Amino acid sequence: MIDSIRGQNLLTLDDLSSRAIVEILDTAESFVEVQRRSVKKVPALKGHVVASLFFEESTRTRLSFETAAKRLSADVLSLAVASSSVKKGESLRDTISTIDALGIDAVVMRHSSSGAAVQVSRYVPHVRVINAGDGQHQHPTQGLLDAFTVRQILAERHATSGLESGAELFKGLHVLIVGDVRHSRVARSDIHAYTALGAEVKVAAPGTLLAPDMTKWPVTVADDFDEALQWADVVGLLRLQRERGSGSLVPSLAEFTSTFGLTVERARMLRPETIIMHPGPMNRGVEIDSRVADLPTAAIARQVSNGVPVRMATLFLSMAGLKKDGSI
Ligand code: CP
Repeated sequence: MIDSIRGQNLLTLDDLSSRAIVEILDTAESFVEVQRRSVKKVPALKGHVVASLFFEESTRTRLSFETAAKRLSADVLSLAVASSSVKKGESLRDTISTIDALGIDAVVMRHSSSGAAVQVSRYVPHVRVINAGDGQHQHPTQGLLDAFTVRQILAERHATSGLESGAELFKGLHVLIVGDVRHSRVARSDIHAYTALGAEVKVAAPGTLLAPDMTKWPVTVADDFDEALQWADVVGLLRLQRERGSGSLVPSLAEFTSTFGLTVERARMLRPETIIMHPGPMNRGVEIDSRVADLPTAAIARQVSNGVPVRMATLFLSMAGLKKDGSI
């Protein structure tokens, strides 16, 4: 287990200890204040170059990573994959070597292939690599920002600061993750973050959308979805990933919604304080009813906002030690 990502790649959450996770969340907390400044910038990564390589579509993760890097005063090289030489067949290795030759310090990358970020970390061992989602394997910063969001809401409710309350807020917390677990890198990263911090996690999904190796995961599978909703302090919905074949694993979208969607009727079963989460993008009307997504207890917009300080913390810690002007 790694106790700190200082000077390290962030490829997966699976090898991070609770201490390493808490360090990232605490560092993110210190960056929240930067968001409220009129000039939203600190000089921490001045003189450093971050390459943003999204080989798979993204709105939230790409924009928040690029915003985070700019708020830390790094220069950002953003590859528009659709109009790049990737479309002429250039390999991942040649693409990363080319970008490295321009002089970069870190790469934030998303790829449809599980393990692509690990592969890139081997091609450019002198560059810090941050995984922004690889296939159905991992989405580490989504797991971190989801844990950060839950901790922030619980800390507000306990009228304490997130920094002081630390991981204790998660002890005995009931987290229910619902939907397309099989194809979800978010579920894999969320489950590690929540359980490392002390929460108890259940998953609810049709049998075809559970992972084949589910018995090895540190979760229980809910027998009764409605009971699990009443048990939950946090409900995390997952997007039905039709691009990964989920559509053919359920009889129909309507049947998925009627059995595992968070409909208005099911949302009424939740306790009033239960936090509703979704990493986005949402299939409104499929895994979550549009009216439920817009409830005050839905933290979906807050998850997006928290992506920036959490990704600032990730870049700041991971790039620690790459001294250019003595600022970090
Ligand atoms: N949650 C998430 O990864 O969203 P994007 O695909 O828009 O980055």
